[in-house]
Amino acid sequence: MRAEAPVLIVGAGVAGLATALAAAPRPVRLLCRAHDGCGSASALAQGGIAAAVDAADGPAAHAHDTLVAGAHHNDEAAVRCLTDEAPRTVAWLAAQGVAFDRDADGRLQLGREGGHGAARIVHAGGDGTGAALMQALRAQAQRATHIQWRGGVDVDALRWRDGHVVGLLTRDERGRGETHDAAHVVLATGGIGSLFGRTSNPPGADGAGLALGLAAGAAARDLEFMQFHPTALDLPGRQNLPLITEALRGAGARLHDVHGHPLMKDLHPLGDLAPRDVVARRVWQACREGGAWLDATAVTDWPQRFPGVLAACLAHGIDPRTGSIPVTPAAHFHMGGLATGLDGDTGIPGLHAVGEVACNGVHGANRLASNSLLEGVACGRRLGTRLATLAGPLRGQGTARWIERGPALDAGTLAALRQLLWTAAGPRRDATTLRDALRTCAAWHGWQARLGEAVLLAALRRTDSLGAHWRRDATVAA
Ligand code: SIN
Repeated sequence: MRAEAPVLIVGAGVAGLATALAAAPRPVRLLCRAHDGCGSASALAQGGIAAAVDAADGPAAHAHDTLVAGAHHNDEAAVRCLTDEAPRTVAWLAAQGVAFDRDADGRLQLGREGGHGAARIVHAGGDGTGAALMQALRAQAQRATHIQWRGGVDVDALRWRDGHVVGLLTRDERGRGETHDAAHVVLATGGIGSLFGRTSNPPGADGAGLALGLAAGAAARDLEFMQFHPTALDLPGRQNLPLITEALRGAGARLHDVHGHPLMKDLHPLGDLAPRDVVARRVWQACREGGAWLDATAVTDWPQRFPGVLAACLAHGIDPRTGSIPVTPAAHFHMGGLATGLDGDTGIPGLHAVGEVACNGVHGANRLASNSLLEGVACGRRLGTRLATLAGPLRGQGTARWIERGPALDAGTLAALRQLLWTAAGPRRDATTLRDALRTCAAWHGWQARLGEAVLLAALRRTDSLGAHWRRDATVAA
């Protein structure tokens, strides 16, 4: 008897791991680029997980803040589902071994971030929430007998037969190919931050999964909505930048310009905790006028609450306890992606997507702070539970064919594409720059350029400003 083909999950961030764990007892093969399963954006997430766990708070208030941040471009039913699920998600993570930060009475400590009307950010290891989640979920997945790991591989192509995705082709660092049969394929490959000149994402967030899904004919949604975090550490000449968590502003840190003037004064009722897009545009402007800094010298308990930021700053000769931190906006989170429902269905039989590569409408035009780990875990568990029993493709008679992402850009052209997207599709956009960038991009041959074109085209077509998509030539003011 032939062994049952596994569910293949591409990507081992929180979304991929939660999907894999919830799919038990169905056999799962986890495919990831790093040998140790590290390297995902999840591990870098600092703020935490938004969840209405306080008695004075509630999922309806969390949903309200999510919709306001998302400029009501969100799918409201999906938002309500996610915010209802948030306290249960935190409880599940605690049961998986995540040691959330608690006060002396054992109650969860709650941080505050931009756009939230209440302190509702659950965190672990101070600003190390993503790493703490990854450590706990990876340990569970390594113990789970239904999960097989395959590290050090890239996915090059999807296998297609009789109208279904039925497998994929991986390639290791030495160029050796391997074909894998699948009952289902899940893309959990993260976002596209690394296609931009400055990003808080790791190098692997390059859109490879999104490009593969599009090549298979899956629909894209909301590609123009890229979130720029207002405060990455400004390291000249570097692309991948350490994040300076927004939770610092929740703890009293304030932004200022080259003259020491407060950046957010009189700009928004929430001041330094205004929605991320508003702060990012202000910081972008200040960077063009001499620079932007975060004064966090009033923050106390650095080693407990912000050990990651402290270490990153000290590593670059900046002591945030005594001086201001130079900051820049950076591409942080893609609200757009492969169009799915909350259950990860792409509409292509056998192909699913979850986490940042997917767009289920929950984040609208601008994701609320600390809703991304929440979405990855909650939607991963939902998809995994469904896949545990979902029938795979019937034994096919038709001829199989490969759907490829296509050749990659050479290093020089990729660097030029990153600069192009940063300038044309960054926090401030206009039709002329977008059109010029599209023309430049069209002349480049490589899948990253096709993805860049799709983002630029979506940004050009949305002529008004909405959420993180800001057109300085907008016909309707934001
Ligand atoms: C942050 O810690 O500032 C980022 C958290 C998030 O992306 O939601």
